[in-house]
Amino acid sequence: MIEKCREVFEQKFGKGGEIRQYFSPGRVNLIGEHTDYNGGHVFPCALTIGTYGIARKRTDRKLRLYSMNFENTGMVETSLDEIKPGADSLWTRYVKGVIWAFGQKGKEIGTGFDFLCLGTIPNGSGLSSSASLEVLTGTILKDLYGFEESMADVALYSQLAENRYVGVNCGIMDQFAIAMGKKDHAVFLDTATLEYEYAPVRLSGAKIVIGNTNKKRGLGDSKYNERRAECEEALREIQAVKPVASLGDLTGEEFEAVSPAIASPVRRKRARHAVYENQRTIRAVKALQENDLAEFGRLMNESHVSLRDDYEVTGMELDTLVEAAWQQPGVIGARMTGAGFGGCTVNIVKDEDIDGFISAVGKAYREKIGYDADFYVVEIGDGPRVI
Ligand code: GLA
Repeated sequence: MIEKCREVFEQKFGKGGEIRQYFSPGRVNLIGEHTDYNGGHVFPCALTIGTYGIARKRTDRKLRLYSMNFENTGMVETSLDEIKPGADSLWTRYVKGVIWAFGQKGKEIGTGFDFLCLGTIPNGSGLSSSASLEVLTGTILKDLYGFEESMADVALYSQLAENRYVGVNCGIMDQFAIAMGKKDHAVFLDTATLEYEYAPVRLSGAKIVIGNTNKKRGLGDSKYNERRAECEEALREIQAVKPVASLGDLTGEEFEAVSPAIASPVRRKRARHAVYENQRTIRAVKALQENDLAEFGRLMNESHVSLRDDYEVTGMELDTLVEAAWQQPGVIGARMTGAGFGGCTVNIVKDEDIDGFISAVGKAYREKIGYDADFYVVEIGDGPRVI
């Protein structure tokens, strides 16, 4: 893959100089959905699919950017002096956004670079192709310009780029999971403090299978911001009766005691999801550490039900994939993953049942939805690196 990128890079930008090669993963969240902007826990892992990048420093202030995934867009040429929020709707905004975010933190770069990338994550599938590109850019800036930021800082700057340059009000999960990825481990992150620990994902005889609805998120971003606003409002209503910093501070019991303070039944459901999903995530990690995979899977299933009924971010495509998965032999757990409203599901399936799973769930999906889902058997990989 990287050899192909190198060849195209040299065709587009010419040979010579110091050409550097990089990789940054995608991510899948195992459990802990819509908790990261509510001060709760998440449990994602980096994947071995991701974004390859090639870069070479220039001596002027130009940036020349080329993506092998958007060949029709062709070469995008710009200058460091033209980087400002809201000015870009192309894929390049993720690269420029991170350069901008580094600048906001006092890490200006004096000269530009030539850049080519190739992503192996399906775009818009909810496996964080954009966060992968952002963290790739941060990794390149560190390497080419000698910045000594930690990878946790690269995650935070990437989130700043997404929030303020791209304009999506996401939490820290995606960028952190990618920046801190570790082979065969998931990252148990407390989003209130950014304390984290790695938990080995030992699936003994089973694998992670991702199901892609092939439904693009579309309206997703506005609904995402709406859910955030509903949770923030519910928190303010709770704070009128109990001093808490976030929904993630509450146990289920504490929530039940204060929930009458939330005036709207819809907001009550949203907050209930955030509180119980956080508690489920903590329990799920404990179950995994105790090798109780059946309990881990059961909590994954419960997570989906809560996202479907209380948070209402699933929709027919994700529900069809998950509900068909629950019927199959060898399925330990299945749920939607990421923001929802389309995108992907995450399933833990016993090795010997994977082929049957893919064909049966694929058939049920095609019959009900009218087009195909895609399936990927994935592995948990390391974080970003020079290759
Ligand atoms: C998207 C966001 C994350 C997180 C998830 C939902 O992936 O980018 O910050 O909120 O949705 O868990």
